[in-house]
Amino acid sequence: MRVADSRRGGRLFGRCAACHTIGPGAGDRNGPNLFAVMNKPVASNSPRYGYTAALRALGGTWTPEAMDRWLADPMTVAPGTRMRFEGLADPLDRADVIAYLHSHSAGTASTR
Ligand code: HEC
Repeated sequence: MRVADSRRGGRLFGRCAACHTIGPGAGDRNGPNLFAVMNKPVASNSPRYGYTAALRALGGTWTPEAMDRWLADPMTVAPGTRMRFEGLADPLDRADVIAYLHSHSAGTASTR
């Protein structure tokens, strides 16, 4: 069985980096900063970011399963979202990106 590869996920994150930073305390771009986003409530990772009503209405937390659905097709998961991204069609790509997001959450995911 293939194990999710966070290093490969980091390379894939290049497609997200046009709109998202990942470093601790880094600013928002078109999209919110994503440091330590895993296991946070949806639409909360960057308190100063103006999330759409569409994303806030989604609710729940960013479990791996929720993140997998979101990254596959954000505009279907939350119609009206400002995240204009066609999605990652390949489940292995999504697993690697999620591993990368997890690797940027260690030690902080439980602090709030
Ligand atoms: C074209 C710009 C763009 C690209 C590319 C993009 N995003 Fe986004 N993303 C956004 C915007 C804008 C939002 C805020 C959406 C809203 O409020 O409706 C967002 C929101 C998010 C959120 C929710 C954060 C929270 O606090 O709940 C996550 C997670 C996310 N994006 C992950 C990714 C990942 C991972 C990628 C790459 C695979 C990616 N995005 C690619 C623009 C983008």
